[in-house]
Amino acid sequence: MNNTLDHALGHDLAALVRARSVPLVAFDEITSLPSVRRRQKAFSFDFADGTRLKGRRFKNAERAETVRQIRLAIGGGFSQILSRRGDSMLLEWIDGTSLSKQRSISPTQFHGCGEMLGALHRVAMEDVAAVPPLTLGAVCEKFQRDIAELVKSQLVNASFVRDVHEAALACQPKNATAGVIHRDFCAENLVVCASNSVVCIDNAGLAVGPHDLDLARTWWRWPMTRRDWAQFVSGYMEHRDMSEFLDNFVFWASCVLVGSAALRHRYCTPGIREPLDRLQRLIEHHQSFFVALN
Ligand SMILES: Nc1ncnc2c1ncn2[C@@H]1O[C@H](COP(=O)(O)OP(=O)(O)O)[C@@H](O)[C@H]1O
Ligand SMILES: [Mg+2]
Repeated sequence: MNNTLDHALGHDLAALVRARSVPLVAFDEITSLPSVRRRQKAFSFDFADGTRLKGRRFKNAERAETVRQIRLAIGGGFSQILSRRGDSMLLEWIDGTSLSKQRSISPTQFHGCGEMLGALHRVAMEDVAAVPPLTLGAVCEKFQRDIAELVKSQLVNASFVRDVHEAALACQPKNATAGVIHRDFCAENLVVCASNSVVCIDNAGLAVGPHDLDLARTWWRWPMTRRDWAQFVSGYMEHRDMSEFLDNFVFWASCVLVGSAALRHRYCTPGIREPLDRLQRLIEHHQSFFVALN
């Protein structure tokens, strides 16, 4: 099993598993968009004493350490890291039901999730001072790089790119408030446990960067009805105002959709049309998207 573990999990994650005193009886890759090209992967581990843990492998050791540092600075509601070595970590497993698999999500749960993200955005910058921030300038540069990648691979044509540029640059902010951001705060990553509390179980995207980029990520990753969004917003606004996000919505949404399409292209993961179709709708009818957010 030793060689198999090293091969399947990578050296660091296999070492973290072996360092536990209890033998491993089974493991599974649980990554939601698996890709042979991507180092970042998630696993579940079942040990002989009946415990289940989660394993996460990152792009590199620096990224794993950044996530560990940010996790130390934020409050409850996000799964705990148990150990870290090199590019990998072991985390607690949360027993419960994913919000994405619940028959319906109550208004109170939408409100609570909004509050959770709002509270995360209120974490003081001093608490994460050691983490190099993702600046607005870097977001804009990445937007251009991602568009260039999509053009090169002929996934978008020149006239569409012109329209995207025009719409996005018309509402590009001059500056943006920054702090801890999650980058994947959505129903799929939220688990309701027996106590009815909600825990965010996939925190691999934690970073320091523009808050409004994070709101756009949630808008893309967690499609909500107008009524549900209103509940989410009311919870969020207990901690932070959203008017700047709404003013610059098309810019942030374009960054996120172009970024998602480029990532899916780079790692050959399925569903590349999904963000591109949403981008097309955003550019053609952005006024109605905007209204839906108010
Ligand atoms: N700590 C955990 N507790 C309970 N369920 C989890 C946990 N970690 C992951 N899962 C389940 O596995 C799925 C995939 O794990 P996740 O970390 O979200 O991987 P990915 O980065 O591929 O999205 C989650 O959507 C969730 O259903
Ligand atoms: Mg996930």
